Amino acid sequence: CDRLVNCPGCPLSSPMSGEDKVIQPGGEVIAAEGDSLTLNCTFETSSTQLPTLFWHKQEVNSYPKYMLKLYSKTKENAPEFKEDRFDAELKDKSVPLKIQKLHVSDSAVYYCALQPKVTGNNKTLYKNLQSKDNIL
Ligand SMILES: *[C@@H]1O[C@H](CO)[C@@H](O)[C@H](O)[C@H]1NC(C)=O
Repeated sequence: CDRLVNCPGCPLSSPMSGEDKVIQPGGEVIAAEGDSLTLNCTFETSSTQLPTLFWHKQEVNSYPKYMLKLYSKTKENAPEFKEDRFDAELKDKSVPLKIQKLHVSDSAVYYCALQPKVTGNNKTLYKNLQSKDNIL
C-alpha cells in the first residue's frame, strides 16, 4: 500500500508499476441533493495497450461496488448505476465521472481505477490502480 498515491485505506488490492497511476484531484466534495457534479480522474500508463478504466463506489462500512467501465469507445454501466445518472467519458488521459440529480445515498467514496492489459507469453496480466474521491 505504501507505493500507492492517493489511496488511504487501499480496500482493493493494487499492485502497481512505477509508471502507471491514476490521479483524482481534490478531496472531499460537498454538494446538495439534486445537484450534478463531476468527479475528475486522470491517468498515466506505460502500457501501449488501450487501458480499461473503472469507477467504483464505496459506502461507509461496505466494499467497493463496480459502477461502470470504459474501454476505447465502449462504456458499460452496472445495472444499479444507470447511465441517465452516472455517466463517464474516456477522453485522452482523463475519465471524469458525472453524477446527476444527486441523491443522499450518493454520499460515498468514489474510486477511479486503471487496468492496462499487458500481454506476453499468451497471458494477460492485470494491474489495478485506484484513486479516490469523496462526496459528502
Ligand atoms: C472537475 O473538473 C471540472 C473542469 O475542470 C471542474 O469544473 C469541476 O469542478 C471538477 N470537479 C471537482 C469535483 O473538483
